[in-house]
Amino acid sequence: MKILAISGSLRKKSYNSALLKACQLLAPDSTEIILFDGLADIPPFNPDIEASSVESVLKLKQLLALSSGLIISSPEYAHGVSGVLKNALDWLVSEPEFVDKRVAIFNTSPRASHAINALHEIIRTMSGNIEIQACLTLPLLGSELSYEGILEDEHMVQQIREALDVFCSFG
Ligand SMILES: Cc1cc2nc3c(=O)[nH]c(=O)nc-3n(C[C@H](O)[C@H](O)[C@H](O)COP(=O)(O)O)c2cc1C
Repeated sequence: MKILAISGSLRKKSYNSALLKACQLLAPDSTEIILFDGLADIPPFNPDIEASSVESVLKLKQLLALSSGLIISSPEYAHGVSGVLKNALDWLVSEPEFVDKRVAIFNTSPRASHAINALHEIIRTMSGNIEIQACLTLPLLGSELSYEGILEDEHMVQQIREALDVFCSFG
């Protein structure tokens, strides 16, 4: 089973990207977690343009089509979802690869309630199926942890494994 993971941060030392990298390494047997690395290449959304005609969006759609689920982890900026993530999601509205996709929403900052609530609303509106039991919040903000540091923290590893087991068991 393949799972696509998108971090809403372009930052090199991003906690959201680190969490997803840790997930990749902790994926259950026979599950491959693919980290989407093309967020910065996606142009500003324009409904006049067909999504499949944009190479970077087409790549995202193809990866989604291959995947049984999608994990999203986004920072909160000014009480909203990161702009680059929202931009990518706007390209996927009504696209067949997204509709009915199983989605887990991860969060690296317990205080970032606005973005997480907005993300739930966006995904529901886009007809994604959020697996609430597989959603995870880990207090990484300010921890200075990289993915290696996350993997050294037994408690976090256990929580990640539990979330991934729930998410991947539906496939
Ligand atoms: C411009 C800017 C605005 C931010 N706004 C918020 C905010 O409204 N609420 C919040 O909890 N954190 C806010 N933050 C903190 C980020 O969410 C936090 O640094 C997060 O770790 C960034 O994600 P990353 O580590 O994956 O890059 C903001 C950070 C920046 C740079």
